[in-house]
Amino acid sequence: MAHKVGIVGGDGIGPEVIAQGMRVIEAAGVELDTVDYDLGGQRYLKDGVVLTDEILDEWRALDAIYLGAVGTPDVPPGLIERGLLLRMRFELDLYINHRPFLAPDGSHEFIVVRENTEGTYAGEGGLLRKGTPHEIATQGSVNTRMGVERACRYAFEQATKRRNHVTLVHKTNVLTFSGDLWERTFNEVAADYPNVETAYNHVDAACIYFVEDPKRYDVIVTDNLFGDILTDLGGAVSGGVGLASSANLNPEGVSMFEPVHGSAPDITGQGIANPLAAILSGAMMLEHLGETVAATRIRNACEAVSAETGTTVEMGDKVIAAL
Ligand code: IPM
Ligand code: MN
Repeated sequence: MAHKVGIVGGDGIGPEVIAQGMRVIEAAGVELDTVDYDLGGQRYLKDGVVLTDEILDEWRALDAIYLGAVGTPDVPPGLIERGLLLRMRFELDLYINHRPFLAPDGSHEFIVVRENTEGTYAGEGGLLRKGTPHEIATQGSVNTRMGVERACRYAFEQATKRRNHVTLVHKTNVLTFSGDLWERTFNEVAADYPNVETAYNHVDAACIYFVEDPKRYDVIVTDNLFGDILTDLGGAVSGGVGLASSANLNPEGVSMFEPVHGSAPDITGQGIANPLAAILSGAMMLEHLGETVAATRIRNACEAVSAETGTTVEMGDKVIAAL
């Protein structure tokens, strides 16, 4: 039976790279029963719709969601990001953001497990006395025991299928409240995995290690904002953000797959965006759907052409030829 997948091309280069992802999936012989959702900044400018409860209900019945990128400079910053992408992550409880990277020397893959529903992204805070000389802005970080624990548990589970090593990345020397909760929770979960070795890095130090010594990493678990920043860095050091794929997972529900990169309005419509991150995100989706053979073929094909250059469509052609 065909898998039911919702497609959200989104804005900018999003639809361009997702089109290549769909071509490759088809060429790999996997049949998808797709539903297209015209959502993002362009849709908002047309009729004011960002995301509706009805759409969210439809998504809950799908097998997966495949997303390009959202956000456009014509719409105030945050409106689409919060109203569409983050709302999707929160309401579908996509609590794990799983982002794999190839170490720069090609020696191994490491993954960042980014907590995806809490932290500074939760929307806690506000503005007081806005527009006056005495205005105040606060933006708190929300960290629940449940949220931190499920992220840590997922990271340790992943490690057991890999090199049995998990690093907690945080900033416990300054963020003494949230850091304390993360550290204690991490250590308690670690006690359930005696065969998994653990490490801890402050996030600033982790940035150095990402560049200078990524060999030390197998699985990294971290909070939402640190994970956001660290995974752009991960992309940059492992062949460019054009290769960085991700899965937004709800292991008990529907999951969403998207490249790490954004909508790149500066190159939109030129047909030059690298589709490999979107294609690799498609492979993660197929893996999740149980199509492991096709997923592996696509990953290998992407690896074979990753050093090549070309237009968006040409890169799609090359992956298909390498399948
Ligand atoms: C990402 C993106 C999003 C994030 C933006 C678009 C809201 O940067 O998926 O990494 O910050 O999570
Ligand atoms: Mn990001």
